[in-house]
Amino acid sequence: MPRVFSGIQPTGEVHLGNYLGAVRRWVHDQHEFDSIYCVVDLHAVTLPQDREVLSSKTRELVALLVAAGLDPEVCTLFVQSHVPEHAQLGWLMECTAAFGELRRMTQFKEKGDRADFTSAGLFTYPALQAADILLYDTDRVPVGDDQRQHLELARDLAERFNSRYGSTFIVPEHAIAPVGARIMDLQEPTRKMSKSVDAPQGTLLVLDPPEVITKKIKRAVTDNDGEVRYDPEAKPGVANLLSILAGITGGDPAELADRYEQYGPLKADTADAVVEALRPLQERFSELSSQPQEVDRIIARGAAKAQALAAPTLAKAMLAMGLLPPT
Ligand code: TYM
Repeated sequence: MPRVFSGIQPTGEVHLGNYLGAVRRWVHDQHEFDSIYCVVDLHAVTLPQDREVLSSKTRELVALLVAAGLDPEVCTLFVQSHVPEHAQLGWLMECTAAFGELRRMTQFKEKGDRADFTSAGLFTYPALQAADILLYDTDRVPVGDDQRQHLELARDLAERFNSRYGSTFIVPEHAIAPVGARIMDLQEPTRKMSKSVDAPQGTLLVLDPPEVITKKIKRAVTDNDGEVRYDPEAKPGVANLLSILAGITGGDPAELADRYEQYGPLKADTADAVVEALRPLQERFSELSSQPQEVDRIIARGAAKAQALAAPTLAKAMLAMGLLPPT
């Protein structure tokens, strides 16, 4: 069975872009692929984090992923720092990546420009991301469009390592969906919806109450020409609403556009679809929030399952590089 791996950072709040670009697809994939999902706390600390907020967000994100439909009996769900092989293979990947290719990563440039403190880890982050993926002999990586460049790097590093040291890693394919892989900010639809940008009205959080979701969608920026058409270049706001509706209902945004003459009904249907899709998640999340021991049990089991897979791959890579095995 092909193997799927993906990750999400426990920073900020999970928004509709994370949900449509990644989480919703993970829930679907777990029944078709051997699936491994990771809350990447080591990636989160590339920027300074409040220690209490980080640990509670990490547990909360695991609960949210389970509430979204990830079944820990079916897939492997774990916290990155609980499996030390990630950091260990991360170092080997840092030594496989060229300085110049990390310097070309656009996310580093964006995040580095915004940060008060640019850590060395923020720079080498994509090498750790490659390690996350390669540790599990991953075939497919379902991510949003913003991770495309990091995925290309993971492929390049796998190929370089294999050609230097002999066949060790599977070269992974990205799995970027045609719809929902780039959900845009509702107020500034030429910018992607993001946890790191402080734009509460433009960002739909998966835990927003129904009335807040409806209000944010009704106030979403569109344009003045009044025609419902899927044209992301000329009509980014309307195209974004159509992408959201299509991402939720499984339709095609251009075909959905034909059903609407006006923006009002498009917004109303999009809001209803989002509210209904998130309702079960929100209910399960509030149940799980009162069961922290259950969440901790899920986290512990996930780490054991993940480590059993990661340890042999790390040992193979270390041997291939000529690191002396311990006796
Ligand atoms: P993160 O935590 O920023 O985002 C988690 C997932 O959500 C997707 N996403 C979006 N999709 C559609 N529209 C948007 N506006 C949007 N914003 C975010 C992201 O593409 C991602 O799939 N570096 C990664 C985490 C990571 C990872 C990995 C992913 C670490 N190791 C290994 C895959 C494999 C990140 O920061 O995602």
